[in-house]
Amino acid sequence: MTNQREHEGKVALVLGGSRGIGAAIVERLAADGAKVAFTYASSADQAAALAARVASSGGEAAAFRADSADVADVESAFDLTLERFGRLDIVVVNAGILRLGTIDQISIEDFDRIVAVNIRGVFAALRKAATVLGKGGRILTIGSNIVDRVGFPGAGLYAMTKAAVATLVKGAAIDLASRGITVNNIQPGPIATDMTKEHVDFILPNVPLGRMGQPQEIAGLTSYLARDEAAFATGASLTMDGGYSV
Ligand SMILES: NC(=O)c1ccc[n+]([C@@H]2O[C@H](COP(=O)([O-])OP(=O)(O)OC[C@H]3O[C@@H](n4cnc5c(N)ncnc54)[C@H](OP(=O)(O)O)[C@@H]3O)[C@@H](O)[C@H]2O)c1
Repeated sequence: MTNQREHEGKVALVLGGSRGIGAAIVERLAADGAKVAFTYASSADQAAALAARVASSGGEAAAFRADSADVADVESAFDLTLERFGRLDIVVVNAGILRLGTIDQISIEDFDRIVAVNIRGVFAALRKAATVLGKGGRILTIGSNIVDRVGFPGAGLYAMTKAAVATLVKGAAIDLASRGITVNNIQPGPIATDMTKEHVDFILPNVPLGRMGQPQEIAGLTSYLARDEAAFATGASLTMDGGYSV
């Protein structure tokens, strides 16, 4: 159900919201009544189009350029959100990149870049979120089901970064529990986005449900975990992957 306006009066920040899963999360949280700030690194046109789409549906969204590999950028996205909307209730850390290559071939440059965005960027966001959110605050990260099953050659480095996120979420959940802030990690399986479009033929035979997931399906779970009724979930990694990792 999308029309219950569950997040009316709340403000959300989606890090990495211009395309794919992040964009679907922006649209869903806005449809559920939240005012939504989101970041992008390079897709300025898509970010502007998304903000306009939300506005034309009666919602409010603001796009800020912020590279998740840059801690100052990440922190200023929080400050800009507070300046613009006056409060912050929900933080979704979605920004992530994929680098594939077998252990004997993948480069140190790939290692540095993916760790900077997928681990360091997530850490910077959680650290800042912890200083800004109050009781009832929600932090959600987007990990990957590949933590549960590294099913193909060349995926080890990416899987390592998502395993780091799943573990960091457990620690942050314990650290913030006494303040009534929950921290959870969503682990999508293969979702139809720019990230996977070149790999669909390879992926599909491994998905028991026989199809790619849709970004809106991950957005629905994200919206649910941000609700008041999900308050007892914390430190969890929840997989939605069409049975891929079963
Ligand atoms: N698609 C899947 O099958 C799948 C499965 C499991 C997990 N995931 C995870 O889900 C998340 C979203 O994936 P997706 O498939 O939607 O990817 P995508 O289509 O490639 O979109 C990635 C989004 O993250 C943003 N982003 C990337 N690097 C950034 C950076 N350094 N700073 C700020 N924003 C950045 C991009 O913005 P710009 O365009 O402006 O760079 C874009 O909005 C990622 O964390 C990914 O690892 C995806």
